[in-house]
Amino acid sequence: MTDFELVKLALEAREMAYAPYSHHKVGAALLGKDGKVFKGCNIENAGYTPTNCAERTAIFKAVSEGYTEFEAIAIVGGMDNLTSLPVCAPCGVCRQVLNEFCDPDTFKVILADVNNIEDLTKITPDDMQIVEKSLKELLPLGFGPKNLDI
Ligand code: THU
Repeated sequence: MTDFELVKLALEAREMAYAPYSHHKVGAALLGKDGKVFKGCNIENAGYTPTNCAERTAIFKAVSEGYTEFEAIAIVGGMDNLTSLPVCAPCGVCRQVLNEFCDPDTFKVILADVNNIEDLTKITPDDMQIVEKSLKELLPLGFGPKNLDI
């Protein structure tokens, strides 16, 4: 699975975003160590605080189906009226949730600035600029399972 392919799956996931309040749509594609991909979108709520981010939707789907070993996640997001998306980095809560299941030194967080998203079937690697970070770079000195001897 290339970074481009995983970003493309995140763009597909973003199509399902339910964001009538913020109009900020996010998609994520989480790659398991066995190659299986779990897609997630943000799901907002009239009560605001029950809103779930795309990254957590993907990870909770995976864990609830017995998958707990992951290699990478691609994330894309931006306002729903855009045809080009800026880089959308995961929020602090999602970084913490990823840190529960992913090795911060090796887990890759793939972010992308994407142009021409009107027709996803036509998207090519030239339409995007990918930024890759380790989870550790996004969550330095993270608190995790090791702190509780797990
Ligand atoms: N959002 C995500 O889905 N992922 C993030 O990491 C940042 C924020 C969503 C939550 C909310 O539905 C909208 O974007 C605006 O914050």
